[in-house]
Amino acid sequence: GGKRIRPILCILAARALGSSDQRCTEMAAAIEFVHTATLLHDDVIDNSQLRRGRPSCNAIWDNKMSILVGDFLYCQVSSMITEDGDLKVLKCITDATTATTEGEVLEITKSRDLHLSEAEYFKIIEFKTGMLMACATQVGAILAKSPPHIEEAMHRLGMSLGIAFQLADDALDYTSTEIELGKKTGIDLQEGKITLPLLYTLEKCSESEKAIIREGTINASQGIFKEVLQLLEKYGAIEHTLQLADQYIQESQNILAQLDKSPYQEALMQITQYVTKRNK
Ligand code: IPE
Ligand code: IPE
Ligand code: MG
Ligand code: MG
Repeated sequence: GGKRIRPILCILAARALGSSDQRCTEMAAAIEFVHTATLLHDDVIDNSQLRRGRPSCNAIWDNKMSILVGDFLYCQVSSMITEDGDLKVLKCITDATTATTEGEVLEITKSRDLHLSEAEYFKIIEFKTGMLMACATQVGAILAKSPPHIEEAMHRLGMSLGIAFQLADDALDYTSTEIELGKKTGIDLQEGKITLPLLYTLEKCSESEKAIIREGTINASQGIFKEVLQLLEKYGAIEHTLQLADQYIQESQNILAQLDKSPYQEALMQITQYVTKRNK
């Protein structure tokens, strides 16, 4: 299950840069394993009961199993990359996994902190989501034996896409439904996660409205969620978040426009358009 956007990015990046190496399928799979392990752990951290339209692993088999199976997948990744033997790929995927974990830790330390700055929020999403997507496109460049400046550009491409992807995800948590998204919505507020829609509203709203938001981060009732949602609508927080996501998409398209035209480059362009328009 899942959209498998990271392995797709890795394979398309490698192909767009002229590689026909079969190794990229293996390395793309390793990256997807990292992502899957992260989700297994993330659903424990976020106490999420639904993933990809089905009960999450922790909902069915408990937290213990989710943690161990996540660890198992991380170890599989090490084994797959070691067998491949490319130290540059090993470094890239290991660094991205480390950063993802740091992002998750940072997010926990900042939960329910209404003084979170926009810079801190961006650091969280760059680390927890951006780094692995950046790694996916960068590994494509490494496999294609691209020169350092192209490798760096491909890293920036994945990073911009990852940031846009998480911004869209943070908007969808407020606007989408469980059926469409396949995971529980409204969970960010419930878990006290101060994402951009909330952050933007906090910057604009009155003291009494801030008190409603504060209440929303500690009280998981449907009524308070609706009140907070109304505040987001009042201040145009969702539009603002999606506009910002579109700026990152534009950045990724500018990078892609510099690559030679090919069906792979065009497919990457199409993915950039999908990231902020998606509803799942
Ligand atoms: C979910 O990632 C976690 C985020 C970074 C928001 P995806 O939306 O790529 O998850 P799947 O693999 O398609 O389910
Ligand atoms: C997903 O983060 C996990 C990582 C990106 C490491 P979130 O908690 O924001 O995403 P969902 O909503 O559970 O997919
Ligand atoms: Mg989560
Ligand atoms: Mg999370």
